[in-house]
This record gives sequence, C-alpha cells and structure tokens, in this order.
Amino acid sequence: MNIISSKDISKEFIENIFKRASEFEERTKVETRLIASEQNDIAKGKILATIFYEPSTRTRMSFESAMIRLGGNVISASDMKNISSSKKGESLKDSAKVISNYCDVIAIRHNEKGAVEEFSKGSKVPVISAGDGANEHPTQALLDFYTIEKEKGTIDGLKIVLVGDLKYGRTVHSLSKLLKHYNVELYLVSPELLKMPEEIMSELAGLKIHTTENLSEVISEVDVLYMTRVQKERFENPFDYEKCKDAYIIDNEILKSAKKEMIIMHPLPRVNEIKEEVDLDSRAKYFKQAENAVYVRMAILEEVITNDGLRITN
Ligand code: NCD
Repeated sequence: MNIISSKDISKEFIENIFKRASEFEERTKVETRLIASEQNDIAKGKILATIFYEPSTRTRMSFESAMIRLGGNVISASDMKNISSSKKGESLKDSAKVISNYCDVIAIRHNEKGAVEEFSKGSKVPVISAGDGANEHPTQALLDFYTIEKEKGTIDGLKIVLVGDLKYGRTVHSLSKLLKHYNVELYLVSPELLKMPEEIMSELAGLKIHTTENLSEVISEVDVLYMTRVQKERFENPFDYEKCKDAYIIDNEILKSAKKEMIIMHPLPRVNEIKEEVDLDSRAKYFKQAENAVYVRMAILEEVITNDGLRITN
C-alpha cells in the first residue's frame, strides 16, 4: 500500500485514520504506562526510512516521532540530494530497490512532481509521499482535515477559504483532492499569478466555489481560514515572487471582521502571512495542527504497516 496522491484516498480510509489518530492523541496525552506499552508494540521491530531530497522540519520529524511512538525505529537521509547515490547519478528506481532492503516503510520527499511515484516503482516496501515538488502532500491534507474535524466537530457544511499560493502550494492541492468526500463551500483567494491550476479545479467540479483576489470580501463568511506561504523556491522569475510575497497578511485588525468561531490554519512554516500577534487569538490553530501531525502520521504508519485490508481507494 502506497500513499502518493490524495486522489486515491477513500472516505473509509480517512475515517479510520481519524479514529485511530484521535485514540493516539488521547493516549499520548494520558501517558499511562499500560497504554504506552500497548501502543509501543504496533511497529515493534519495524524500520521507517525517511528519504528527503528537499528540506523539511515538521514533516520529517513528525514522521520519525510517530514511528518511535509506535515502538519502531527510524533511519534517515535528511539531505538525500547530497548523499552518495544521488551525487553519483543513481536513478530513483535503483535507489528505491536498494533502500527498500533496509526498512519496512519509506516516507520520501522530492522536489519534482511525479518523483515519488517513480521511486515507488522500484520499492519493495510501502512508500508514503512527504511531498513531491509543487504537486501534492497527501499526509498533510489528512492532518489538515483531522484538525478541522477536531476543532469544528464536522467538515460537512463548512465554508473554507484557501489563501495565498494556490499555484505552487502542494498542501492546498492535496487538500482540494480530498474535498470530493465532503460537502463544503470553497473560497479561493490568490493573486492572479498564483491561481489554483486547472488540473486541480477539475477535481473540484460539483463544489460551490467562489474565486477572488480580495480576502476582505470573504473573510467574514468563512469557518476555516487556511493560509499558505508563497513558495519562493518554485518561482522561475524572482520579480514575480516579489510582487506576490506579501499579498495577504493576517493581523488582529483583519480578524475583527471574521467569525468568532472561525479557525486559522497554516501548514507552516509561515513567513509574513500571519503576524505573531495572532498567535494569542484563540482562533489560531496552526501550532495545534503541527502537533496533530504526529497523531495522524501514527495512524497512517499503523495502517500501512499492518495493512489490515482497508483499501486506499474505494
Ligand atoms: C509545507 C510543505 O512542505 O509543502 N510544509 C509542511 O509540510 N508542513 C508548506 C510549505 O512549505 O509552505
């Protein structure tokens, strides 16, 4: 079982992940000895390899923390571009053939769209995408939805706004591809240059969608405000980045017009999109979202390791 695109993730899979993540969240908080030891057996004797061709803090470390909390072990190439096999020009498939002898599951991030899929073709063990270029980041989408469900009690019926870099932001792409399972109203707010790609828009057919460049037009209507970083590293023209980089900045002033129960999310890292003063607002959930990464990745690793018959696709 690989996890490469949100497109292939079924509702049944999502629901199972949420249920287990919630249990892991409770257990991690309670931390009774009995529960901890029960949990520690899930990945006993198993090895996760984290293979990162692009930098990462949260994704890699939360995957590793999740595996260790499940009682497993971790081997890591956090700077894969600079390690021997890549430097010498080994193909992704060959690297996968070799590395998959050393572990039971692989979490991999690459700077190119499609590279994770290519890698998976050579792997003997399950491969989980930790992001492929500007394309997708499916496990982030699962933890984003988990956070929404936990904070709002439901996903159906919500009004969700995605703000910022909708062109290069892989988290919003994966999130959008999961929306087919829910009945939500979607607001897309971005500069013209950073519009959601057509390919993703076609996945959203059937949803009620509002598109605008002006966040203040819609902020009072939504239940979830999902901010993104403008992905500097993906721009071909640095002037375009300069034009867009501070297009949307959330501060206490703009939040005055938002609903009292609206939640503010961001996959992090933030640059200027959310002012630090907002951290004190009870609606700010982005650090909780980063914490949830561990529980959701525990559930994903458990599912992939035990592979107990639940299919990814319907
Ligand atoms: C995101 C990513 O790498 O796509 N970060 C993350 O995984 N939490 C978002 C970003 O880098 O802007």
